[in-house]
Amino acid sequence: MNIDLSNRRALVSGSSQGIGLAIATELARSGASVVVNGRSADKTRLAVASIADQLPNMDATAVTAVTADLATADGAEALHDLVPDLDILVNNLGIFGVRPVLEIDDDEWRRYFEVNVLSAVRLTRIYLAGMVERGWGRVLNIASDSAVVTPVEMVHYGVTKTALLATTRGFAKAAAGSGVTVNSVIVGPTHTPGVETFVADLVGDDLPWDQAERKFMREHRPNSLIRRLIEPAEIGHVVVYLCSEFASVTTGAAIRADGGYVDSILP
Ligand SMILES: NC(=O)c1ccc[n+]([C@@H]2O[C@H](COP(=O)([O-])OP(=O)(O)OC[C@H]3O[C@@H](n4cnc5c(N)ncnc54)[C@H](OP(=O)(O)O)[C@@H]3O)[C@@H](O)[C@H]2O)c1
Repeated sequence: MNIDLSNRRALVSGSSQGIGLAIATELARSGASVVVNGRSADKTRLAVASIADQLPNMDATAVTAVTADLATADGAEALHDLVPDLDILVNNLGIFGVRPVLEIDDDEWRRYFEVNVLSAVRLTRIYLAGMVERGWGRVLNIASDSAVVTPVEMVHYGVTKTALLATTRGFAKAAAGSGVTVNSVIVGPTHTPGVETFVADLVGDDLPWDQAERKFMREHRPNSLIRRLIEPAEIGHVVVYLCSEFASVTTGAAIRADGGYVDSILP
């Protein structure tokens, strides 16, 4: 399959590092023009530079950055002013962290909802209508194995990712018959800077990375069938496929890219 996303305009929220950056890189590699995003101007600049380094033949204007806090309504509107239309919206922004469920207060629950659910809802509300009008579009919500296997160490995170699956199904129904697909990707444990911190919180920060990763997989993610963390580019490849013409009949779905971690036949 040759996937060509040229003439497609894409945004990946929270993409100055980790999975978001890998998704942005793979979309750009397939020819899309891509907006990267994060709250730090320095980090988003570095992200654009790193994509340009990896894709030396790319048009220099194909990847741009918008620095905005997309967990807020103001941030989403500021983005909309700069980027009026999109063909591909990847709601990748998400936060996670270890916290015993009895210690999660109302403010923390609200913060997780604002960042992990409302950021995707707002951006979809802003951009979906234009996609429907033009008769083509892709919305991808980056969910997690935690959406279907609620992790006791971060119940609030799991709940927000479950909500994202339902949100996906709802927006897909709103776009029915339009040529626009809306899907979520159930991402499994992936090797990102955020996860390095998370692993250190769980297994301690005194081990070399290789040993810490093995201990984390053995003790905390024993169901993984690939028995390793996923590399971010591997998620990027799944997203590029779902953004392509080849995925035209997949909508309202939750697609697993979890290394077989979720122990069930259906998502
Ligand atoms: N890593 C995993 O194992 C894993 C597994 C399943 C699902 N996921 C999901 O995959 C997505 C990405 O995870 P990751 O591990 O790549 O995350 P990460 O390494 O923590 O990166 C988060 C990115 O989001 C940006 N960001 C944070 N808050 C923001 C805000 N309010 N507005 C705009 N940008 C913001 C960060 O840059 P700044 O801090 O500079 O803003 C950074 O670029 C999340 O939705 C996560 O839930 C991850």
